[in-house]
Amino acid sequence: MAGETIYEEMKKAGVSRRSFLKFCGLMAGAMGLNALPPVQVSGLPANLVKPDTQMVKRVAQALQSKPRLPVIWLEFQDCAGCTEALTRSQSPTLVNLVLNQITVEYHETLSAAAGIQAEEAKQAAMKKYAGQYILVVEGSISPKDDGIYCTIGGRSSLDLLQEAAAGAVAIIATGNCATFGGLPHANPNPTGAVGVVDLIKNKPVVNISGCPAIPEVFTGTLAQFLVFGTLPELDNLHRPKTFYGVTIHDRCLRRPFYEAGKFADSFDDEGARQGYCLYKLGCKGPTTYNSCATLKWSGGLSFPIQSGHPCLGCSEPNFWDGGGFYQGQSAPLDRPVIAIAGGAAAAGIVLGVGMALANNAIKKAIGVDEGDKG
Ligand code: SF4
Ligand code: F3S
Repeated sequence: MAGETIYEEMKKAGVSRRSFLKFCGLMAGAMGLNALPPVQVSGLPANLVKPDTQMVKRVAQALQSKPRLPVIWLEFQDCAGCTEALTRSQSPTLVNLVLNQITVEYHETLSAAAGIQAEEAKQAAMKKYAGQYILVVEGSISPKDDGIYCTIGGRSSLDLLQEAAAGAVAIIATGNCATFGGLPHANPNPTGAVGVVDLIKNKPVVNISGCPAIPEVFTGTLAQFLVFGTLPELDNLHRPKTFYGVTIHDRCLRRPFYEAGKFADSFDDEGARQGYCLYKLGCKGPTTYNSCATLKWSGGLSFPIQSGHPCLGCSEPNFWDGGGFYQGQSAPLDRPVIAIAGGAAAAGIVLGVGMALANNAIKKAIGVDEGDKG
């Protein structure tokens, strides 16, 4: 990876030192570095870095010394929703990270080139950055070799995936389609759609599930690789524990109503108007792992449950075939063991504290105390 460092690139683009450090803080937060042990960093002006922001210094040092990270982004059987979510994210600095500072060498939706030109650009990037680039995959893959499903330039999705994976240092599968097959995988799954981990066994694969994936979860994962050169600790479905360590239910703002046994029975009843728990309307929050309840969407504005809709479980395998979206779950609601490793879940912890405070306020409002669990 030759070329200027990320900081030099940002400076050239007119980013001030102040904005750069703010950006480092955002990245540190996204990576969940708060709990990491302090490190000594030399070379940074003391007046620019406060003593209690060791993790920000560590990020800043990395960005000042490391060249940009090349990314090749393939799309297969998808709706481009993850790309849409990323480009419409309300976190412009993080989007810049992916779209400009990190260098997306090839992206089928965002590329200005088309046809043969685009294909040549991809081949050139794969050759130039062989063994160094991150391969991002959006969309499911059809492993059927008869070449009638999802072909691009006359080549099958399986062929294209295997070719790009061969030169990748690691692969990030984004969205439910690339991770678990998504909608194309739904019964009867005519294309035999599967996710990347089902096909690529000789490279590290990180799953950022969700429909679409939360942009900050994607960029936070990429940021960790950029700064430390390591991938996050993963759960048994290849998802970063930092962001998938607890269920939606565990951090849900309607949880006090659940605990109080107060449920909406329809979308327009008094319970719905009061913001009661949506469990009886089919909420899959108790069995769905993601950061929606803490990071939320649109810059932390809201997420499905806050907006009045049950969680559909879009971050889990087979969510299209997992029973009716609006059918209440019968599974027991045991709390899972929370496994947060290393410096994980900074964003979740910070926002979770905020959520706990909000929950306490709701508890007070509805008159529930700790001994009043239903
Ligand atoms: Fe929130 Fe759904 Fe759990 Fe109710 S069941 S507390 S709405 S996650
Ligand atoms: Fe999906 Fe549930 Fe989050 S439907 S967006 S995992 S709240």
